[in-house]
Amino acid sequence: MGRRAFFAIGVVLIGGAVGAGTTEWKAPASARAVKNPVDAALGVKLGQGLFRENCVICHGKAGKGDGEAAAAMKPRPTSLIERSVQAQTDGELFWKISEGRGAMPGWKSISEKERWSLVHYLRALAEKR
Ligand code: HEC
Repeated sequence: MGRRAFFAIGVVLIGGAVGAGTTEWKAPASARAVKNPVDAALGVKLGQGLFRENCVICHGKAGKGDGEAAAAMKPRPTSLIERSVQAQTDGELFWKISEGRGAMPGWKSISEKERWSLVHYLRALAEKR
């Protein structure tokens, strides 16, 4: 392989990593099977306030990705009630909420219990749609 081809492949790989949002966001396999340790009813209750406080600005009250700050964002905040999100395990959603990507902040500043509670709340939002 010539030096040029090698360079071109490098640009594609780095470009892919930087262009987050244009590529699928996948939680690592290790996150998948982690069980939600928080009771569902309690989680929904705790999660509601946390969601209002921290997430509505971007994801919107009903989680549809239409918060006040959403219009100017690229990529747009994800609609959290979509099947593509809801099909993920609690462990995967917990991981994404913890790590963040691009304009989506990571939420390690709140406790793990609070992040697991938010996952329960996202399930409740999807049921309400
Ligand atoms: C500043 C705006 C902003 C805030 C605040 C925010 N998000 Fe996000 N969120 C985003 C954006 C933008 C994405 C899409 C990121 C991507 O795909 O690169 C996203 C993606 C996500 C995803 C991943 C969906 C998928 O594709 O699987 C989850 C889950 C999520 N947010 C939950 C939350 C929760 C819970 C909160 C509050 C604790 C929150 N977000 C707060 C902007 C925000």
